[in-house]
Amino acid sequence: MVNSNEIYPVQLNLDDVDDALKLSIEAGWNQIDKDWQLFISKGKAIGFRNSSGQLVASAATLPYQNNFGFISMVLVTKNWRRQGLATQLVNNCIELLKSQQLIPVLDATIEGAKVYRHQGFLPLFDLNRWQLIPELSKPDTNSADLSTPEFDIEKLQKLDAGAVGASRSHILDDFCSRSGTRIEVLDDESGFGLMRSGRNAAQIGPVIAPTQSAAISLLERLMSHTSGPIYIDVPTMADQVGQWLKNRGFTIQRGFIRMAQGRAKPFGNPAHLLASAGPEFG
Ligand SMILES: CC(C)(COP(=O)(O)OP(=O)(O)OC[C@H]1O[C@@H](n2cnc3c(N)ncnc32)[C@H](O)[C@@H]1OP(=O)(O)O)[C@@H](O)C(=O)NCCC(=O)NCCS
Repeated sequence: MVNSNEIYPVQLNLDDVDDALKLSIEAGWNQIDKDWQLFISKGKAIGFRNSSGQLVASAATLPYQNNFGFISMVLVTKNWRRQGLATQLVNNCIELLKSQQLIPVLDATIEGAKVYRHQGFLPLFDLNRWQLIPELSKPDTNSADLSTPEFDIEKLQKLDAGAVGASRSHILDDFCSRSGTRIEVLDDESGFGLMRSGRNAAQIGPVIAPTQSAAISLLERLMSHTSGPIYIDVPTMADQVGQWLKNRGFTIQRGFIRMAQGRAKPFGNPAHLLASAGPEFG
């Protein structure tokens, strides 16, 4: 356990976004300032600062309506690891969600799963992060044509809630308001796909569709709007989508495990969740 003279807990506010970004950049993650602003304004972000004021650890919770809340951004800078900081932060996130009658859910990296298993998290399903890094890639998708056609946001929110198992309209509204976001909707409005800007790559997700082939048609349409690097997080059970990505030159960067505290049954309808909104949003 660390000495409390060396380190103190903090709740992050919008002035802390630059410090928080330093932690996610150190880990090579894809979040941008708007993501941290979202965790802080729509959820609660906490952390630890050391005696010189440096933010050395973070974690965030986002409440989703009715069923569960998402825990993410569990980050500890390298020279403060293995001292229990992640465990303490995740324990605080669990307490907060439970006080709101929400089950804690998260997408764990392999490193993170080692922490969460001790805290009663059980695996729900596995995801792969697929990446496409074109040889002549522009790292920034803002330059691409990302203007989006007309769509009924409430319909998309309903589709998303059915697949994910909880309503998170506040998250989708935020993504839709960002200048780098592109949305494609199936002609019969039974599914949609969203692409937003990230630090290292455009992030595709969520992709909600009734079948894997419908999801693939959405991916084709989304991908025609960027020539830069792309990340997409696909449940391993969506094997046709995985195969299609492989054929298009995507490779697996890493795996994630969706976990819920004290629950082994997935929420919603994972067969319709063909790409998550990223491990930080589920
Ligand atoms: C994963 C991470 C947050 C852990 O932070 P931490 O503060 O070092 O974690 P803790 O000290 O609370 O670890 C708790 C326990 O988890 C296990 N654990 C943590 N990191 C581990 C590792 N790299 N290998 C094996 N076990 C590990 C250990 O059991 C540890 O207890 P012990 O050291 O007493 O044996 C940190 O390594 C990190 O920021 N990694 C990069 C980003 C990341 O993957 N975040 C998780 C996202 S889901």
